[in-house]
Amino acid sequence: MTPTTNLFVSLFSLSLLQVIQTLQSTTPTTLDWTALNKTLGGRLYTARPFASPCFPDFDGLSVPRIEANCEVIEDNYFNATFRSTQFGSFMTTQWESCMSTDSQCTLDSSDPSDFLAWTDLPCDQGSVAPYYIDVQNYTDVQIALNFSSNTGVPLSIKNSGHDYFGRSSMVGSLALWVMILRHINVYSQLSFNASFVPDGGSESYPAMTIGAGVPWADAYAFADSNNVTIVGGYAETVGASGGWVMGGGHSVLSPVLGLGIDRVLEFKLVTPDGEYRTANAYTNPDLFWALRGGGGGTFGVVLESTSVVEPGAMTLQVASLSFDPTSETGIQFIQLLTENSLQWAQQGWGGHFTINGLILVNPLLTLEEAQSSMQNATEFIQSQNGTVTIETLPSWYEFYVKYVISYQSTVGLEATLASRLIPSSLFETEDGRNTFVQAIADMPAAAQDILTITAVAPFLFNATANSTSATPAWRDSVWHVSFLFYREFLSLRKTKSLLSRPQIIIPKPLISIAPDSGAYMNEANVYEPNYEQAFWGENYPQLLAIKEKYDPSGLLGCWRCVGWTGVNDTRSQCYLPLN
Ligand SMILES: Cc1cc2nc3c(=O)[nH]c(=O)nc-3n(C[C@H](O)[C@H](O)[C@H](O)COP(=O)(O)OP(=O)(O)OC[C@H]3O[C@@H](n4cnc5c(N)ncnc54)[C@H](O)[C@@H]3O)c2cc1C
Ligand SMILES: *[C@@H]1O[C@H](CO)[C@@H](O)[C@H](O)[C@H]1NC(C)=O
Ligand SMILES: *[C@@H]1O[C@H](CO)[C@@H](O)[C@H](O)[C@H]1NC(C)=O
Ligand SMILES: *[C@@H]1O[C@H](CO)[C@@H](O)[C@H](O)[C@H]1NC(C)=O
Ligand SMILES: *[C@@H]1O[C@H](CO)[C@@H](O)[C@H](O)[C@H]1NC(C)=O
Ligand SMILES: *[C@@H]1O[C@H](CO)[C@@H](O)[C@H](O)[C@H]1NC(C)=O
Ligand SMILES: *[C@@H]1O[C@H](CO)[C@@H](O)[C@H](O)[C@H]1NC(C)=O
Ligand SMILES: *[C@@H]1O[C@H](CO)[C@@H](O)[C@H](O)[C@H]1NC(C)=O
Ligand SMILES: *[C@@H]1O[C@H](CO)[C@@H](O)[C@H](O)[C@H]1NC(C)=O
Ligand SMILES: *[C@@H]1O[C@H](CO)[C@@H](O)[C@H](O)[C@H]1NC(C)=O
Ligand SMILES: *[C@@H]1O[C@H](CO)[C@@H](O)[C@H](O)[C@H]1NC(C)=O
Ligand SMILES: *[C@@H]1O[C@H](CO)[C@@H](O)[C@H](O)[C@H]1NC(C)=O
Repeated sequence: MTPTTNLFVSLFSLSLLQVIQTLQSTTPTTLDWTALNKTLGGRLYTARPFASPCFPDFDGLSVPRIEANCEVIEDNYFNATFRSTQFGSFMTTQWESCMSTDSQCTLDSSDPSDFLAWTDLPCDQGSVAPYYIDVQNYTDVQIALNFSSNTGVPLSIKNSGHDYFGRSSMVGSLALWVMILRHINVYSQLSFNASFVPDGGSESYPAMTIGAGVPWADAYAFADSNNVTIVGGYAETVGASGGWVMGGGHSVLSPVLGLGIDRVLEFKLVTPDGEYRTANAYTNPDLFWALRGGGGGTFGVVLESTSVVEPGAMTLQVASLSFDPTSETGIQFIQLLTENSLQWAQQGWGGHFTINGLILVNPLLTLEEAQSSMQNATEFIQSQNGTVTIETLPSWYEFYVKYVISYQSTVGLEATLASRLIPSSLFETEDGRNTFVQAIADMPAAAQDILTITAVAPFLFNATANSTSATPAWRDSVWHVSFLFYREFLSLRKTKSLLSRPQIIIPKPLISIAPDSGAYMNEANVYEPNYEQAFWGENYPQLLAIKEKYDPSGLLGCWRCVGWTGVNDTRSQCYLPLN
């Protein structure tokens, strides 16, 4: 084959979208970037991966290591609060890298001070956007959308960088970093209104308005200081108005009080056509529905969200039980959980179970009721010489400080997840319960150890029919079961290559437990089969129609987001192919 035919072959193998993108993109010159920076008042920045100061080279050129900065990075490699302040950091580190080209700049996660991670190993840009804008208001977003549509430079939207699919990271993109707002003055991004009325509506609600960059840590402190309770995630640094709320947003209070998507009253956002819009039940209701479960990063750039809050501090019963299981008693404990969880859900408990214990909260019961409800679990744990605490805490904030902060998922590692929503019908029959227990018992111990069962489905919450677009499977589920796999750096030299990482840990057994159910889009597997069905169920066609209405040219796009055109979308080029 001559070079010419080769070119044609490769051209024709591009998807239509890619051809259009190739034709459109006129790579911007330095002058274009300078002009953009000027339009933005100087708030355009260049970016490098988080650990780049530790390396003596960048992109094939030698550069001096910045020892002092590197030490701070090593010391804070697993510190989510620190990472959230760094544009070039992603909580799950493979999203700092471009996996398909093995271009990376990460430290050794088994020992961040291990100099072998940077000695003779290159530091490359990976999938970190080379440019980002520190977004201060909707004008910045409009400028960026216009720039992208003129130049073909793809856009990415980053908040905290927690996304497990790497959807807040994108190779070669111009990034909109909405989080920087917080560092200016977080309290200007938070407000409480005792009688908030959504634009166009008439009913009022006690509500908090939260700017795009605000993490839960600040939202919880603000709610507490205003004597209200807001329903949010189990992490200090996850954003309250970003991917969490648009993708579903679960909380240990969700069994009684609903998911994030159930409690949001209004979004303010810029849609890809450049319009700054309000979306709520009265104004742009189709967009509002799509944002309530359709996921972040695709329908527009959210500047703030407003969610209903509960008046007052909330008295909570807390059960914290743990023991040291053997392979046998661990499975016995799982069996006990399957036998008791339906009743616990009916009583309003929410929280986390693992093979060696549980932490649950309940806003409905008294302490005596909580103790009696937990009787079966207490007896079992005590028979195993484990520890049992059942106590009353006066507020969500006290629960957060005492239990949540110390129990957050680890960041700074490569991680892969898998998720399944487990319907109530499974718990109703002995056969159903046995199916679950057997599936777990059949897994290797290493998988059992990373099992997290969360009681976070909105089991008692009375949702309005079709008010949200996440999979309806949430509505009759009791559990969201997940496995969180961390890749271990046993031998750095041998395993640093991303190409050799075990990519697919698809839990076929997990799917077969509840084949007709779904998965939580924010905590699912990157390669979830039939993801449209799993994440959105029957809502997908309508979500796609709304995406096409507000973003007809596909200006925004991300991996397995609504409207994703597939692995050949150039924006997805860093993801490893599934083989
Ligand atoms: C340690 C940890 C703990 C977690 N705990 C929970 C939990 O308790 N409950 C739960 O439900 N989930 C939890 N998650 C999952 C979490 O919901 C997702 O990671 C979510 O995507 C994070 O959203 P973010 O905006 O903070 O992160 P990012 O990674 O910055 O963004 C996530 C996605 O939303 C988009 N996005 C972000 N901001 C905007 C915006 N302003 N406008 C438009 N699009 C935007 C991004 O483009 C990306 O697609 C946890 C994750 C981690 C890593
Ligand atoms: C992506 O491109 C490859 C190679 O050109 C092609 O074989 C494949 O079918 C495409 N996949 C999709 C989902 O379009
Ligand atoms: C944008 O302008 C500011 C102020 O002039 C400057 O500090 C910054 O480095 C510029 N950004 C880029 C990417 O050149
Ligand atoms: C994590 O980083 C934050 C922000 O830099 C810092 O305030 C905090 O002390 C760090 N935590 C630890 C345990 O080092
Ligand atoms: C957005 O912020 C920029 C810079 O501070 C300012 O020039 C502009 O007027 C602001 N736009 C709006 C709509 O507030
Ligand atoms: C959009 O881009 C065009 C072409 O560069 C420019 O003339 C126009 O002023 C831009 N509009 C906005 C709102 O930035
Ligand atoms: C609260 O909301 C109401 C109704 O939307 C509005 O009139 C009022 O100004 C708001 N109060 C504050 C303090 O923002
Ligand atoms: C659900 O609501 C959306 C948004 O209002 C609407 O487009 C869709 O048709 C509704 N679906 C059903 C099944 O009623
Ligand atoms: C907090 O709110 C609750 C419920 O509205 C109220 O009963 C209580 O008095 C308030 N506490 C304070 C300190 O204002
Ligand atoms: C204890 O578990 C049994 C089933 O094993 C159940 O019938 C009973 O209701 C449970 N007791 C409590 C207090 O939950
Ligand atoms: C619990 O502790 C008692 C007293 O030390 C001991 O006899 C018993 O074997 C222990 N049980 C388990 C399950 O470890
Ligand atoms: C749901 O509605 C039922 C019937 O109106 C009511 O008894 C129950 O308290 C509601 N549940 C919640 C959690 O609000």
